Order: sequence, then structure tokens, then C-alpha cells
Amino acid sequence: MAIDQLKARRLEQMGLGPVWVLRMPVGHALDASRSESAAPSVHVPAPRSEDYSSAHANGAIPAMDWDTLESTIRSCTSCGLCQGRTHAVPGIGDRQARWLFIGEGPGRHEDLQGEPFVGPAGKLLDNMMRALGLARGKHTYIANIVKCRPVGDDGRDRPPSADEAAACMPYLERQIALIKPDVIIALGKTAAASLLGVGEDTALSGLRGKPHSYAGIPLVVTYHPAYLLRKPADKAKSWQDLCLAQRLYDER
Ligand code: URA
Repeated sequence: MAIDQLKARRLEQMGLGPVWVLRMPVGHALDASRSESAAPSVHVPAPRSEDYSSAHANGAIPAMDWDTLESTIRSCTSCGLCQGRTHAVPGIGDRQARWLFIGEGPGRHEDLQGEPFVGPAGKLLDNMMRALGLARGKHTYIANIVKCRPVGDDGRDRPPSADEAAACMPYLERQIALIKPDVIIALGKTAAASLLGVGEDTALSGLRGKPHSYAGIPLVVTYHPAYLLRKPADKAKSWQDLCLAQRLYDER
């Protein structure tokens, strides 16, 4: 029996898979308002690029070490998201992680704490990692497409605009180059579209369930945990995606 089948059976026996246990009542999942089917409730005009100074202009990012990269992210003014942030959120985990999980961008909780996925969606992401035998910071790194919280005029989280994602991408590219993970998991459509270079109008259903590659690294697309909080029935499909990622990891 293949290792992933064994693992799936073990998880079933333990009552952990394919549906992960929520440690927070869904009613608390207010920051699950974006991703997948949650369209932004307001239109936020993308900042004009000439409005912001560009840390990228000197092309220094591809040569940065970890500490320089993180401090550059924390003081970045390359797009308008810097104006509303409490903390930039560079990412967290093992700098030599084998598994890299990439979300959309910090929400309210993350902006306050400076750490990715610390709200209800983060609790579910922790459970997803646990189902794979992983843990936050142990062989894993968690990053986002944008490092500062995108917030709408109504004060709610919103997906980053294409310009905001593009302005932040050099940071993620450098993180990936430094980590050199064995497998990347793109959590949700924003992450998938940015990493695979497909339009935001591409359906997530057409991207998940099959292997992709980013800079030669196997990449698997799955649902964003915030979406899974709203649509728990799709956890089974997400578990299939994680099993695919495990298989690609085992084949490396
Ligand atoms: N959602 C994300 O995509 N990233 C976070 O860090 C938190 C919530």
C-alpha cells in the first residue's frame, strides 16, 4: 500500500481526515470573509505605482539574506498597503522548510500580531499541517502573496489587487529562492493565480487536483482555509490535494 494511502487510513482511524476538526466555533470566523467565492464587497482602486517609492528599483531583493529581506519587508513602501498596516507580515517558520504554504495576505489578526495565519483560518491551517504530520515551524514555512493587510473602505479584509500582488512578488520570490522547498501549497485562488501566472478569473476547480510547478518546484493548489471554514464539505477535496502534495514530496 502506498505511503499516502497508509497515511489516509491512519488519519481516518484517528478521526482526523478527511474532515479536520475545528478548534474555534465557526461564528468566530469573521476574518473568513475573503477568498474563493467571497468577492470583495467594495471596489478599492489600485494605488498608482508612481505614488509609492520602490524598494525594488535597485534590484537588491534577489541578493538579500534573510534578515535584510525581513527588515526590508517591514519598512516597505512599495504600494499603498503600507499606509494602513500595523505590522508587515513577512512570514514564519523554518527557513529551510521542505513544505511552503502560501496564502493571500494578512488579515486583521495577522496585521496586529505580525504573524501569518493566526486567526480562525490559521487554526484550520495548523490542523491541515498536522494531518500531514507537520507543524508550524517544523519543516514548514508560511508566507503570503502580499505582506501587508489589504483592507477595504468598510474596514474588512479584501483580496489584494493585481498591482499590490505584483509589487510584493519580489519578496516572495526571494523567500522561495532562500528556502528551496520540496513542495509548495498555494492556498486559494489569489495565491494560485499569482504563482501560476493565470488570470484571477481562472476557476480554482480547474487548478486544484493536479500537479503544477513553480521555478521547478512541485506546486499543488488547494482551497484557502478561510473558504473551508465557510464550506466544510470541501475539506475532503482539500485532503485529496494534500495527499497529492505528499506524493509529490515523497517522489522528490
Ligand atoms: N489569510 C491569508 O491568506 N493569510 C493570512 O496570513 C491570514 C489569513
